[in-house]
Amino acid sequence: MRPEPTWLVPEPYTEIDLGTLKSGKEAQINVVERTSLDDPRMTCLLARKLYVPRGVKGKGVLEAMGLQKASTFTNDVQYREGRQFRKSRDRRAVERMSTYGKRLLQDRWTNHEHDVMEKLWANGASVPYPVSYGEDVFYLEYVGAPDGAAPQLAGARLGRDQLEVAWEQLVDGLRTITATGYAHGDLSAYNVLWWDDRVWFIDFPQAVDLAENPSGLDFLHRDVANLCEWFKRRGVERDPEEVFADLLGYAFG
Ligand SMILES: Nc1ncnc2c1ncn2[C@@H]1O[C@H](COP(=O)(O)OP(=O)(O)OP(=O)(O)O)[C@@H](O)[C@H]1O
Ligand SMILES: [Mg+2]
Repeated sequence: MRPEPTWLVPEPYTEIDLGTLKSGKEAQINVVERTSLDDPRMTCLLARKLYVPRGVKGKGVLEAMGLQKASTFTNDVQYREGRQFRKSRDRRAVERMSTYGKRLLQDRWTNHEHDVMEKLWANGASVPYPVSYGEDVFYLEYVGAPDGAAPQLAGARLGRDQLEVAWEQLVDGLRTITATGYAHGDLSAYNVLWWDDRVWFIDFPQAVDLAENPSGLDFLHRDVANLCEWFKRRGVERDPEEVFADLLGYAFG
């Protein structure tokens, strides 16, 4: 078992919000500082991901939460197909996207990212440590320095040698993710951070279970193709079919 991180400030603590890092399509990320009430010298930085509520429409509500962009349910069904809605009534509600079905999806959405990352972290994948989650919020390890967050791979301006290193690390990480039973589902140079000379996989709310989702391998294939395309444009050319075939050997093991 991978030991719990030692940098995490235990309860009781206070928290201050240091400001917004990013307002993405689906979430707003803030940096928060946690300070131990027992020992004020003990502090840690965390990323707090606040999800845009599913199915929420209307600018007012989102603005009130400090978010501008709404997202819709359209992609969810495809991603979630095959996920454990054991009762046929629930499955039908989800397929029809009734109010009840949407609520079912939302309940699952909020802790899914945490649960996936927890398993990946335990298996040694390079992901930020998933700290905790609440209804619309997910706390995770902050990647970066006190004066600035880690860049996305897309903006990290890596030299040729570093790109080669990053590529090897990505393949290694993908093997772990695949062996854990998931496809990321939205992998790109924007959902990978570069920090401490290594890649960090982030942004897993849409991760799909390879064994349960009939499209799981298609998502994996698309993830691999996306990364290969990005690396190819930067002079690191790898055959996506070869990488995909290698990863298949790790799935369903
Ligand atoms: N743990 C973290 N440490 C540092 N920066 C982070 C962390 N998590 C997210 N970020 C930053 O916030 C951005 C958005 O996070 P994430 O991709 O998880 O959310 P998102 O809503 O899906 O965003 P997008 O739609 O832009 O992909 C990341 O690209 C990264 O720059
Ligand atoms: Mg993202």
